[in-house]
Amino acid sequence: MVPDKAHQNEAKLGRLVVVSNRLPISITRAKRGEWHVEPAMGGLVTALTPVLRERKGLWIGWPGIGEEIDPAELSMAQGSGLGYQIRPVMLSDQEVDEYYFGFSNEILWPLFHDLQNFCNFNPAYWKTYQAVNRKFAEAVAQSVEEDDYIWVHDYHLTLLARELKSLGLPFKVGFFLHTPFPSPDIFMKLPWRSQLLNALLEYDLLGFQTTRDRNNFIYCAEALIRNIHHDARRQVSVITAQGRRARVGAFPISIDFREYARQASVDLVGERVADLRRAIPDNQIILGVDRLDYSKGIPEKLKAFRYALERHDDLYGQVTLVQVVVPSREDIPRYQELRDEVEGLVSEINGQFTQWGWVPIHYMYRNLDRLELLAYYRAAEIALVTPLKDGMNLVAKEYCAANRDRNGVLILSEFAGSATQLRHSALLVNPYDIEGVANAIHRAYKMEVGERRARMRRLRKSIRDRDIFWWVESFLQVAAS
Ligand code: UDP
Ligand code: G6P
Repeated sequence: MVPDKAHQNEAKLGRLVVVSNRLPISITRAKRGEWHVEPAMGGLVTALTPVLRERKGLWIGWPGIGEEIDPAELSMAQGSGLGYQIRPVMLSDQEVDEYYFGFSNEILWPLFHDLQNFCNFNPAYWKTYQAVNRKFAEAVAQSVEEDDYIWVHDYHLTLLARELKSLGLPFKVGFFLHTPFPSPDIFMKLPWRSQLLNALLEYDLLGFQTTRDRNNFIYCAEALIRNIHHDARRQVSVITAQGRRARVGAFPISIDFREYARQASVDLVGERVADLRRAIPDNQIILGVDRLDYSKGIPEKLKAFRYALERHDDLYGQVTLVQVVVPSREDIPRYQELRDEVEGLVSEINGQFTQWGWVPIHYMYRNLDRLELLAYYRAAEIALVTPLKDGMNLVAKEYCAANRDRNGVLILSEFAGSATQLRHSALLVNPYDIEGVANAIHRAYKMEVGERRARMRRLRKSIRDRDIFWWVESFLQVAAS
């Protein structure tokens, strides 16, 4: 539940208007041609829904499909049980190509994950990115009322506060970046670095996942902007530059812990866990759940698993890696290449080790429904979460919340935002260190139940204490102060 203090602060803010690239809905076309709209799953939606319902709020975003759907029809989703309004921003195919796939996911996404060699700095992308940020700002301008608080999410919309100001809208606007923010060495590679950074400083409050990301942002601002003043004494720092004042803080995002724990305990999940156990008998299950993304380090993880099988004889025939890969951004060539690489490695490793009755890797390339995912979380003795870099990584937190038997081991990349919080009780690894990850797999496999329980209890407590409601509250409390 959101505590009372948060309600008081939110009250000071007036109506909440959330703006993100994607609307919190999923749209499918029924057989007879009509559109079916339902609320999307996901932590952000869960966290913001109670606040949006209470404050009769509004969510503005792209419906995730082309122009073929009528916006009026979409807005009908208001009546379909969301409990708050939505306003779709329709994008043309070219805008989707150049703003979403292009600037957002072929420039900012790799750059913010320290993979500047993966960037395609196409100038056309920048033009369209600015135009689409402007388009979002116009949609906001047509929808906002006096005293609204506008909360913008993620790297797709870094320019929105600037665009709103240029439309003459004097609103307080907050921003939360769900990805990491890179160090100056990397950020400086961006051809439009000054424009982007100056635009970010137009936000009233900037939220990052960790203090490392927040500090990186401050270092970049110091490197790029003259006469900048920065008061770092407080948890939320204040940057003043050329008459502007932006507050900058770290607000690590989380999950609805209690809901995950509750759902993981329902009978249906229990039955699926039993089915899984029968399908993979007498083995410890090692679980990987990742969107198909090069930042997730899937090939490195597979290589570490192979190395573990080669070096530790006692793992042979005794562990099964269940690797779920969720399709993502399939129009981008890098993502297609990654799929080929991952599937090549899976078949190589299975070809090398499979014996009668034991297949070392069970590979799935699809989206799981919530109950299926929870069953895997519950059944797995070990979770292998090894992104090369990640804003937070919610899979790590969800695994712990669902681990109701408290005997799972979390192997976690030190480069995931969640490592800041979970480092003392997870087995921390450098995902580039194949031998180190292989040793961690072996250590997890051998870990006594007493140590497993003690670690998992601490992990769960830490995630329960700082859940998604805590996150919303801490951001909005600062926003209102
Ligand atoms: N997830 C999902 N479908 C699946 C597997 C996972 O929707 O088949 C969800 C998972 O529950 C988690 C999210 O996808 O909430 C992944 O979040 P994370 O922070 O780990 O990584 P991201 O994909 O946002 O980079
Ligand atoms: C990350 C980003 C989100 C994005 C999600 C899925 O979590 O931070 O903004 O929505 O990936 O990616 P997609 O491109 O499908 O929206």
